[in-house]
Amino acid sequence: MPKVTYIEHNGTTHEIEVPTGENVMRGALYNNVEGIVGECGGALSCATCHCYVDEAWMDKVGGPSSDTESELLEQASAEVKPNSRLSCQIDMSDALDGLIVHLPESQY
Ligand code: FES
Repeated sequence: MPKVTYIEHNGTTHEIEVPTGENVMRGALYNNVEGIVGECGGALSCATCHCYVDEAWMDKVGGPSSDTESELLEQASAEVKPNSRLSCQIDMSDALDGLIVHLPESQY
């Protein structure tokens, strides 16, 4: 099963197995990772699943998957950077095994 490493703002690291086809937001929620809220449950309407994709993974993960994701990111409470994504829009695959995401200090 592919793994994702979540790095909280304070440096706490969680290496979690996230099933293929599941998204990065749920991987965090189901494993009590602090720093991702996922208020809308992945319906692409809240921006509380904001994360920063590690630079080394940006080519594989890519930018926002839709105009809606881009627009929602603009409403994220933490600073939006070129590597910002909404984690509910990143679906796990074997190609993303080892993915590293950094979490903002707060989602509000
Ligand atoms: Fe709401 Fe991702 S969980 S936009």
